[in-house]
Amino acid sequence: MSDLSGPPLMPPLRQTIPPPRHRWPVAVLGATGAVGQAFVRLLRQHPWFHLSELAASERSAGRLYRDTVRWLDGELPRDLGALTVLPCDPQAVRAPIVFSALDATTAAHVEPAFARAGRLVLSNAKSFRLEPDVPLVIPEVNASHLHALALQRRSRGWPGGIVTNANCAATGAAVALAPLHAAFGIEQVFVTTLQAVSGAGYPGVPSLDILGNVVPFIAEEEAKIECELPKLLGAWTGSAFAPAGFGVSAQANRVPVEHGHLTCVAIKLATRASPDDAIRVLEEWSGPPEVRELPSAPDRPLAITRREDRPQPRRDAGAGDGMTVTVGRIRQDPLLDLRLVALAHNVVRGAAGGSILNAELLAHRGELPCAS
Ligand SMILES: NC(=O)c1ccc[n+]([C@@H]2O[C@H](COP(=O)([O-])OP(=O)(O)OC[C@H]3O[C@@H](n4cnc5c(N)ncnc54)[C@H](OP(=O)(O)O)[C@@H]3O)[C@@H](O)[C@H]2O)c1
Repeated sequence: MSDLSGPPLMPPLRQTIPPPRHRWPVAVLGATGAVGQAFVRLLRQHPWFHLSELAASERSAGRLYRDTVRWLDGELPRDLGALTVLPCDPQAVRAPIVFSALDATTAAHVEPAFARAGRLVLSNAKSFRLEPDVPLVIPEVNASHLHALALQRRSRGWPGGIVTNANCAATGAAVALAPLHAAFGIEQVFVTTLQAVSGAGYPGVPSLDILGNVVPFIAEEEAKIECELPKLLGAWTGSAFAPAGFGVSAQANRVPVEHGHLTCVAIKLATRASPDDAIRVLEEWSGPPEVRELPSAPDRPLAITRREDRPQPRRDAGAGDGMTVTVGRIRQDPLLDLRLVALAHNVVRGAAGGSILNAELLAHRGELPCAS
């Protein structure tokens, strides 16, 4: 039962797998934005990664981080504030591991430049998520998709590579649906989202558009959810992605909430299951053991609440330091089979925290490049 409140500030990181002898130097591209700042916060005291470089647009490059960032959460750490912001150029940024919080237009040319230069890019942008040789990964859901990196390197001739994490609204739905798809098979999914303003970045949605209001449109969001869910819940065959064979219909709404995307999901199953069957399957699921021991993995990737008015963004988005997806209101659907509500912290699990977990899994498997 999830009962945590408030967004995470500085999650305590676990160190159950012995840390590597040296921490990998890592950089953040787009370090001044909403997701970039979350990376900075989460990486600052990471046991495996040393945050050594920050990069952003030409508007910010050459200035001290503290003079260009509009820091959103508490005090900006002094040591990081004193770093000079670099341009997003692999000649300037030297770290072998690069976390990208760039907008899609910029990511489309910057991320391949880093991969060509031998860097591993962990991307939050949509630009490469659906490419046939690019892993789109939530470690607890589809860790095997990371094997596509080898194909990507062969087919593109990149010594580095790009690994993506999912759209922030698709992430919560995918974690909730993965155990149900494995147990009962999913045939159709209808998703309606209520998405927080931090999902639009900073400064994001104008306050007069969103205060006391709901905006029933988020550019490209519905298509992202409809295309990404089948890839996430599909299989890696060894040479290609085989998307899950269900259809998705999504409707996206922006609501006046700070953090946490709520997804209301109706599901048609291949094998009928009662709400109690679904609850049992969801409660027993915890993802693969190799992921559970990673430093950023929460105690539980999925928490079930039986309270009739939960999950709520304000009370539950911070569960598991923002890395736990909370699922509630699991009930019979009068037209399909089941209905439920899933909540994920969009900036942590749906963005920076999810990317860092991907990097930790690659590190654990010995697949991260070393510093040159
Ligand atoms: N917000 C979320 O919840 C969320 C969740 C999942 C995925 N995402 C994805 O994550 C990415 C970042 O989102 P965000 O919400 O953090 O956006 P944001 O707040 O608008 O930040 C954008 C960042 O990109 C930099 N940038 C913009 N144009 C650039 C250029 N031409 N060259 C180099 N850097 C440039 C900005 O630097 P300056 O400050 O110098 O302009 C800033 O650091 C997007 O692709 C978004 O779709 C966001």
